[in-house]
Amino acid sequence: MSERGGQSIGVFDSGIGGLSILKALRAELPHERFIYIADSGHAPYGERTQAHVLARSRAIVAYLVSQNVKALVMACNTATAAAIRLLRTEHPTLALIGVEPALKPAVSLSRTGRIGVMATRSTLASAKFQALLAAQSGGTQPVEFIVQPCDGLAAAIEASAETGDTTKTRALCAQYAGAMGLFGTESGQIDTLVLGCTHYPFASGPLRALVGPDVQFIDNGPAVARQTRRLVQTGFLLPDRLSDASGAPVSLFATGQPHRLQAAAERWLGLSEPVNLLHF
Ligand code: DGL
Repeated sequence: MSERGGQSIGVFDSGIGGLSILKALRAELPHERFIYIADSGHAPYGERTQAHVLARSRAIVAYLVSQNVKALVMACNTATAAAIRLLRTEHPTLALIGVEPALKPAVSLSRTGRIGVMATRSTLASAKFQALLAAQSGGTQPVEFIVQPCDGLAAAIEASAETGDTTKTRALCAQYAGAMGLFGTESGQIDTLVLGCTHYPFASGPLRALVGPDVQFIDNGPAVARQTRRLVQTGFLLPDRLSDASGAPVSLFATGQPHRLQAAAERWLGLSEPVNLLHF
């Protein structure tokens, strides 16, 4: 195994949402080590300016590059929309993987042609998302996207990870699902729901209770994980076993609220590694 095969894969999000991507990455790449950063000291991103999100993404990418990661996953739709293009030009040799709302898979799965998209205000307003939407709208099958900005939902999910109290998450899910219209598999109903923010898979319980058992939820954790494996494989950087038995397979960092990441990582991924604070 090469030296680079022993390096970690960096993963970051504004907070704990990227754990939904990390979970899929660990399932797809069981022999890899990961460094996860929650930018909780500067979150949420979804209702902040693109300049703020770009500056934070740039700082985190620089830190992870200084840690010599072999690939870097931006496990945040908002950060990907605001920053990935520029960061790719700034780090041309870095294997940089982003996350965007999975509209294309939704089009092929939907039978009613009505597709709901929940995401942050910032993601939905971005040029990247608008281009994605335009690209999916001109196909042979007529589809309609019902696009819903979900202010406050990521923050509510963050808070509930710590307290276990999902009251606010449930209220916001009810408000936003209600605003989108009728869900179901009958003609005219929304039969497919794209979870366009990496926090939202952690609200799939409350969402499922609202929309019923037959609506398909699409998050792209598994697709991002497959794409990451392909890139790592192409670069011959795939280890065939954990390279250093003494180190933890996941190192957890936060720029604020470390207890939040600690609780979420334990609750959702069964990780008990201590969270280290980063100051930048
Ligand atoms: N988890 C992030 C995303 O995928 C954003 C949440 C936020 O900070 O608003 O868009």
